Amino acid sequence: MNTIICKVDSENQKNYIDVFTKAAEIIKSGGLVAFPTETVYGLGGDGLNPKASEKIYKAKGRPSDNPLILHISHISELDNIVCEINENAKKLIDQFWPGPLTLIFKKREIVPKQTTGGLDTVAVRFPENKVANMFIKMCGTPIAAPSANTSGRPSPTRASHVEYDLSGKIDMIIDGGHCEFGLESTIVDVSGNDIPCLLRPGSVTLEMLKEVLGEVNVDKAIVGKLSAGEKPKAPGMKYTHYSPSADVVIVRGNDDDIVRTINEFVAKANAEGFKTGVIATEENKDKYNNTDVLVVGTKSEPATIGANLFKMLRKCDYHGVEKVFAEGLKEDELGLAIMNRLKKAAGYSIIDV
Ligand code: TXA
Ligand code: MG
Repeated sequence: MNTIICKVDSENQKNYIDVFTKAAEIIKSGGLVAFPTETVYGLGGDGLNPKASEKIYKAKGRPSDNPLILHISHISELDNIVCEINENAKKLIDQFWPGPLTLIFKKREIVPKQTTGGLDTVAVRFPENKVANMFIKMCGTPIAAPSANTSGRPSPTRASHVEYDLSGKIDMIIDGGHCEFGLESTIVDVSGNDIPCLLRPGSVTLEMLKEVLGEVNVDKAIVGKLSAGEKPKAPGMKYTHYSPSADVVIVRGNDDDIVRTINEFVAKANAEGFKTGVIATEENKDKYNNTDVLVVGTKSEPATIGANLFKMLRKCDYHGVEKVFAEGLKEDELGLAIMNRLKKAAGYSIIDV
């Protein structure tokens, strides 16, 4: 299959109309279009067409028990796909939609089981990104979209990342530049009448959720590795994720200890003949010796780290790095989401110093 790649130029009215018209035609005929959102690029298909959902799983190489998120372009589309919107859901919608927050509801009959991985709940998100919004609106149907990466690889935050993973497997990529937040949306389960539960941390932080809801439960899968037999509430959280080909090790502690320990590991790995790299913060980047230093952002502005993390994990592969050492961060506010992704990339290989 030939994958068309179209850059969106908001200054050029004709380009704008042409790109979205083409994308909508593809979706209506059951095809797949990757598109930017403020979190990561999504791989979109008609969420009410079971065949399109099946194609999404196939293109990503994703297990079909891992449900997809339905993306809408206006609040009014919600009633058609979910059964009940309780008070907690309403509060979150008022505060955070459109934006990087996905909510889990009981699904209506119209949403096929293929889209929800067999579950009777459905995940819904209303993205804020203008390109995403225009694309969904033009399609006239909720868009099922997982992150547009090959299953297990870091999520794409640039059109070039999608091209690297999925070129030849999907119909079209809409290139709308880089994604603002760079981490997938926060997921909260509001499908029951009990206390809402955080299933995946993101740029809408636990602290922000608590401010609106008071009490929020946190799924155990978020901070640590589950033991055999335990299941995360978001099926996707059980899979290895975000992994570059390299081995990733996280080093946690105070800055001086982190730098000293990473330099020791690098020296040892270099001596064993491995190509090494360090995922470093701006604050420490000049303190590493004889290694590929990949600067991810600054601790004084964690959002810069969130925006660049997946790009840097991909860079490790592009540079042929075999052993990567990453600086650990504090696990509060945005640090909870960043460390959640980093821990999965590292297969929970963490050293506390
Ligand atoms: O930011 C995002 O959420 C991006 C953009 C494209 O919107 N999408 C995304 O999709 O990250 P994906 O498929 O990579 O991750 C969706 C997660 C998975 O962990 C999945 O198991 C969980 O959402 N999920 C989906 N439906 C669910 C449901 N009904 N109940 C529990 N978890 C659900
Ligand atoms: Mg994903």
